[in-house]
Amino acid sequence: MERNGTGYTVRGSHGFLHILFYSEKIVRFAYSDSLKPPSSTDAVLAEPLEVEAGLDNSKLVTGLMTITVDEDSLAVKITGPGGAVLSEDVTVDTGKRRVEKKKLWELGIYGNGEKYSWINQLGSATFNYNSDVLFHHCIHNPLIPDMHTAIPFYIGAAPGCAYGIYFDNSYRTDFDFAKTDPGTISFQAEDGSLDYYFIYGPSVDDVVSSYGSLTGRPDLPRKCFLGYHQSRYSYETREEVLSIAENLRKHDIPCDVLYLDIAYMEGYKVFTVHPERFKDFKGLLEQLREMGFVVVVIVNPGVKVETGYRVYEEGLDRGYFVKTPQGETYQGEVWPKPAVYPDFLRSEVRKWWAGWHRELLDAGVEGIWNDMNEPADFTQEIGTLPGEMVHLDDHGNKRPHSEIHNLYAQLQTRATREGLEKYRPGQRPFVLTRAAFAGSQRYSALWTGDNASTWEHLEISIPMMLNLGLSGYAFTGADVGGYRGDCSGELLVRWTQVGALLPYFRNHSELGTARQEPWAYPSEILEITRDYIRLRYRLLTYYYNLMRESAQKGAPPIRPLFYHYQDDLRTYNINDQFLLGEGVMACPVIRPGMDRRLVYLPGGLWHDYWSGKAYRGGREIICEAPLEILPLFIKAGTILPHDSIEGAVNAGQTGRVLTMHCYAGKEGAYRLYLDDGSSFACRQDRYSEIEFTMDSDPLNPAINKTMIKENYPLPEINIKIHSLDEEKAVE
Ligand code: GLC
Repeated sequence: MERNGTGYTVRGSHGFLHILFYSEKIVRFAYSDSLKPPSSTDAVLAEPLEVEAGLDNSKLVTGLMTITVDEDSLAVKITGPGGAVLSEDVTVDTGKRRVEKKKLWELGIYGNGEKYSWINQLGSATFNYNSDVLFHHCIHNPLIPDMHTAIPFYIGAAPGCAYGIYFDNSYRTDFDFAKTDPGTISFQAEDGSLDYYFIYGPSVDDVVSSYGSLTGRPDLPRKCFLGYHQSRYSYETREEVLSIAENLRKHDIPCDVLYLDIAYMEGYKVFTVHPERFKDFKGLLEQLREMGFVVVVIVNPGVKVETGYRVYEEGLDRGYFVKTPQGETYQGEVWPKPAVYPDFLRSEVRKWWAGWHRELLDAGVEGIWNDMNEPADFTQEIGTLPGEMVHLDDHGNKRPHSEIHNLYAQLQTRATREGLEKYRPGQRPFVLTRAAFAGSQRYSALWTGDNASTWEHLEISIPMMLNLGLSGYAFTGADVGGYRGDCSGELLVRWTQVGALLPYFRNHSELGTARQEPWAYPSEILEITRDYIRLRYRLLTYYYNLMRESAQKGAPPIRPLFYHYQDDLRTYNINDQFLLGEGVMACPVIRPGMDRRLVYLPGGLWHDYWSGKAYRGGREIICEAPLEILPLFIKAGTILPHDSIEGAVNAGQTGRVLTMHCYAGKEGAYRLYLDDGSSFACRQDRYSEIEFTMDSDPLNPAINKTMIKENYPLPEINIKIHSLDEEKAVE
C-alpha cells in the first residue's frame, strides 16, 4: 500500500485498489486498472480529505478503524474500536464488479431506497434498475422487485454497531442480503466500476447523517408543501379544479396544494396548456392563489413527435434528444404516443429544459411534478429505453443508456429545479419525482408511484417510507387512499391517518376509479378524514422543524423504532409503528375491521396522546383503536409544538399561535425554529430559535425558555403541561 494524493493505493494481481477518506467515518474503496480511481457518479458531492493514518505494510490505521488489504486479491477487512470486525470481504471480483462480504453481527439490513419489502431486509435479495412498474406488472407485488427508484445504499445494524455501504455505480446493481448464502452479503453491478463507500456508525443515526454528507441533504421545503395535497388523474377542466378547491373550503378541509395531471396539456405535449379546457390559465391560478392554494403541474420527459411543436422541433434541431447507436434520434412512446427523450446528461440540455418552464411559472404554477422518468417507454418489452441507446456528456463522450438510466430522473429533476430557481427566484422550489437515484433528495420530493387501494399497500407504505428515510430521502410519501382501484371509506380513513404523519401527504387516484376526495364518502368518513388532515396542520410547525433537522443533520423526519432504540432487539422488525422525530410514536391500524391493536412501547414512560393515560414501556400493550383513533404515544420528556388551526385553511394560517405541549416525567429539551416558511431569507439569518427545557418533575415540571436568536417575528406561545403521575402509570 502506498500514499497516492490524498488517499492510498494498493496494487493487486488483478488491478488497483484506491482507498480514500471523506471523513473519519467514510472510506471509499475504488477498484480500477490504473493508478487513478474511477470517476464518481453525480450522486457523490463530497471531496476526499486527508485523514491522519498510519501505514504499516498492507494495513492502514486511523484513529477509528484499521483497514487491512490482502495485497493479492485486494479483499478488505475493517476493524473498529476495540478490534471489533466491522466488515470483511470473502471475495472481490473486479471483472464482475462483485464483492462478497461475510455476514458478521448484523441483525438487520435497512435502507436500500424504495423497496416493496418489510423494514428488515436481511435474508432478501433485490436489484436496482428504475422501472415503470405498472407497465409490466399491474401493481407493486412482493414477487416483483422492480421499483421506480434505485438507491444502492444499505445499512447493517445491531446493538452498539451500525455501518452503511453505498455502492456508487449507476448501472443495474444486485444486492443479496444473506439470502442465497446465510453467511454472505454481496453486491454486484452489471457494468461500470467497483467503487463503494463504507460508512461507520456506530449508531444508525451517524450512518444516515454521514450518507447525507456524502450524497447531499434535502433543502428545507416551503411550509405549504408540508400541508395536504389533493390530486387525481385528472382534474380535466378549469371548472373541475375550481370545484375541487371550493369543496375543500366548503368542507373545511385544510389544503395547500392542488395538482394538474396530464389532462391540462394539449395532446399531452409538455409545456402546453389546453386552450379550451384550461382557458385563462393565469386567471385560474390567480383565483386559486386567492383561495389559498398553490398549483403543481405534471411535466414528463417524453416530448411528443409532432411537426410544428416547438419543444420537439427545437430539441431536434439542436440534437438534444437521446440517440440510437447509429446516431438517429431515438423514438419511443409515452402518453403523447410517439415521443423522444431529452438527453439531460448535458448541462446545455438541462438549461434548455429549465427555460421551457418559464411560461408555466410566469402563469403562476408553483411546483413541478416529474413523472414517467424512469424513463417509461411503451414500445419496449422492458418498458424503458434499450441500454445501448446513447447519451452525450458535457465532454462530448458517448455514454450508454444502461449507465445513465438510473440517473435519468435525477438529471430531469435537476433541470426542473434550475427552472424553478430561475423563474421563481426567492422562493424555495418544489419538485416531485417518481424515479430517483442516490442524491435525488437534493432536488426533489418523491412519491412512491402507482400503488393500489389495498390494505397491503397501506401496510407496506410504512416500511417503504422508513427505508427511504434511512436512504437519505426525507421528503417522501405514498398516494393516500391508493392510486389503482377503488378505495373504501374505511381504507381512506386508515390511510389518511398514516398519510397525515408521513412527510409528503397527497391523496391521488387513477382515472376511472371511484372518486377519492374525502367528500365523496359518507359524512362519518369525511369527518374523520378531515380530523386527521387537521391533525397534520396542528403538527405543521413540528413537521417543519423535523424537515429542518433533516436538512441540517440528515435525520429523517419519520424513523423506525430501532433508530432511537438500537439496543432493543424487539424494535428490529417492527413494520407498523414509527417515530415522528424522537418523541412521537404512531401505531396505525392497517387491517380492515380492527378496533384495537398490539403496540410495542420501548423502554421509558409514555403518554397516550388521546386519553392522557400514562404507560410504562419495555413491553407490549393492547390499545383501543376504533376507526376515529390512530394510536399515538408521546414519550415522557417530549416538548411538542402544536399550531392553533382555528379557521386555518392553509399552512399560511398556522404558526401564529403555538402551544408547547410538555409531556412530563423526564427531563426534556426542544429547540423551536421559525422563519417565513417560503423564501431564502433564512439563509441571511432571518429566523428565530427558542430553546425550551423541562425538568424531570412528573407533576409540575419547570419549563424554561431561552431565546437563541430573534430575527423573525415570534408567534404567541403558550405552554401546556401534561403531568404524569408515575404511580398511576399502567404497569
Ligand atoms: C403515472 C403516474 C400517476 C399519474 C399517471 C398519469 O401512472 O404514476 O400518478 O396519475 O401517470 O399522469
